[in-house]
Amino acid sequence: MNRRYRKTIIAGNWKMNMSIGDTRAYFSELREKAAAARWCDIVVCVPFTHLAAAARGSKGKSARVEVGAQNVHFAESGAYTGEISCAMLEEAGARAVIIGHSERRQYFAETDAQVNKKVLAALKCSLRPIVCVGESLEMREQGVTFDWVRTQVKMALHGVPADQMRRVVIAYEPIWAIGTGRTASAEQAGEAAHIIRECIRGLYGARIARSISILYGGSMNPKNAAELLSMPDIDGGLIGGASLNIEQFSAIIDAANQ
Ligand code: PGA
Repeated sequence: MNRRYRKTIIAGNWKMNMSIGDTRAYFSELREKAAAARWCDIVVCVPFTHLAAAARGSKGKSARVEVGAQNVHFAESGAYTGEISCAMLEEAGARAVIIGHSERRQYFAETDAQVNKKVLAALKCSLRPIVCVGESLEMREQGVTFDWVRTQVKMALHGVPADQMRRVVIAYEPIWAIGTGRTASAEQAGEAAHIIRECIRGLYGARIARSISILYGGSMNPKNAAELLSMPDIDGGLIGGASLNIEQFSAIIDAANQ
């Protein structure tokens, strides 16, 4: 983390879990537990149907808790049965949206071109895009991780003007570490985050690169959070499994506030 230049962000990704009732209970606990979290922003990305309940639950003076969605469509409106637009997300109370999560790339064949359109659409509204990139185990073993991650970053940010970059968040999530209990070592994660920052520096210059928050995601938990967050280029976490449990999520928030 480097709090001097950029925000620390702890983001939860509930995926397709929890009920609306769970959401209410979770947010009322989170509000209290997060009251002491002075040094980080907290974002909880919930299923579409839970956004309104989460947004109501996140209101209050005690902490900066934001609600996010896990996907969005890039069009403003139209014949896209089953899809949700950025404006709809905002209306439901979302302030952020995860874009290009590896599960969407894998199970729903989401492409880098679509990811890019979604990023541009989110920025056109006032949503904060949390853009996910990361390599497979095969890629890591073949030594192409950095090339791959650089390509994903470049494609996701294609056409994003420099003055909008301050709203962009990047999450480095090695696919082999997601939901597997197998975390990247702090060195591996820190190195990839550094490569991403260097890539942004090449695209937008040193000042913007220094100000971008880069998160790590992939089996982050209360035990490994402090070490991962101690890496200079890792500015927070995108947490799946451990974000479902308020005690564990709060412990990670505490680690980010040390
Ligand atoms: P995990 O998921 O923490 O359960 O590995 C992270 C993510 O997919 O964002």
